Amino acid sequence: MRTIMIRATVFFLLYYLVRYHNPKNYVISRPLTEYSSARYAMQPALIDPYGRHITYLRLSVTDRCNLRCTYCMGESIRFLPKSKLLTLEEIVRVVQICAQLGIRKVRITGGEPFMRNEILAILCALRSVEGINEVHITTNGVRITEYIRALEELGIASVNLSLDTFGAEQFATLTRRPVFGTVMQAFEALLASSIPLNVNAVLTHHHTADDIYAMCEQTRDNPLCLRFIEEMPFNGNIRESPAAPYWTHTKILSTMRDRYPQLQELGRSHHAATAELYKVPVYQGTLGIIAGFSRTFCHACNRLRITAQGMLKTCLYDSGAVNLRMLLRSGASDSDISSALISAVRQRFRNGFEAEQASQRASGFETMSTIGG
Ligand code: GTP
Ligand code: 5AD
Ligand code: SF4
Repeated sequence: MRTIMIRATVFFLLYYLVRYHNPKNYVISRPLTEYSSARYAMQPALIDPYGRHITYLRLSVTDRCNLRCTYCMGESIRFLPKSKLLTLEEIVRVVQICAQLGIRKVRITGGEPFMRNEILAILCALRSVEGINEVHITTNGVRITEYIRALEELGIASVNLSLDTFGAEQFATLTRRPVFGTVMQAFEALLASSIPLNVNAVLTHHHTADDIYAMCEQTRDNPLCLRFIEEMPFNGNIRESPAAPYWTHTKILSTMRDRYPQLQELGRSHHAATAELYKVPVYQGTLGIIAGFSRTFCHACNRLRITAQGMLKTCLYDSGAVNLRMLLRSGASDSDISSALISAVRQRFRNGFEAEQASQRASGFETMSTIGG
């Protein structure tokens, strides 16, 4: 209780500082609904060579994590020094510039976003950036519970909870940390909150069809979307990446159909969504499959990424288009940064296969904890 009170006080102090003190004029203290000016009704400036409009930014705010998921990183991973992370001010500045170029949705990722002490100040500042309509979070849930009230108040649009199993032992094996109970508390608290919840389950060779069915059953009584994700090679080279995931999207679907022959196809929630959605009739929640390795959704991709160390990526599979951290720290003007973003988008690859082929990966695939998924 005491920790929550202290955190709440720090949160409101930071909120006040960021919102009203406004030393660098980076936050606008008007409600988001007021933004109807011509400037924000303009056409997005970020259009790639294939006509895709870029309106969504995924921002990794730290590479640190309190779990060690086996498909993501090794036990003895070295994290970045703080000086290599974008500062709060740098994050807000880049997002403001992105918003002026047509970005409307931001997803905060990590590592684990709640490992960053300033996380509430970052969320609060981003909720106030003119033009950004939605802020979402992807988290492993270990630290989120005490923040949920604040997230509701901030109007966070949704939380994606990474949870690859509903079994305590399997959780400990997959994440190498015995905190299943803590994450289940977060799961329950998120379900009880007003924030829409997606659960992300990366399927590895450790998963059986029965594990998949046990997870599907969570949608019987819970209003959540549970998405199965193909394993991708971003594991920081802890082991050689397999040529294809053990659970491909087609195998996941046929396995689900075996148990649920009446499975309904719902399609995608919007044209650029990564997940193909399904539903077991009368179950409250929905199921999804994300073909991250097979890359079946590239044709509609509207995403840019900024990694924990401030590298702009125009595709998850590219090796980095612009070092924004260096640009920001070399005294670049807003217009220089806008130009760099526009130029990177103009050289965007057609899809994740072309991006992967073109990228120089002498040192193999990096860990997902710096990219943010
Ligand atoms: P929303 O579309 O906002 O719901 O986000 P999301 O579901 O794409 O984001 P989340 O952070 O929950 O990621 C779920 C999985 O999708 C992760 O494994 C991501 O790495 C993967 N993913 C997200 N975007 C892309 C993408 O552009 N390409 C590929 N290949 N995978 C992606
Ligand atoms: N393959 C697929 N998804 C991954 N994630 C982390 N590493 C991988 C990987 N190698 C997922 C996390 C989280 C999302 C951002 O990316 O579980 O849900
Ligand atoms: Fe941490 Fe996410 Fe990587 Fe798991 S997948 S170790 S939760 S960053």
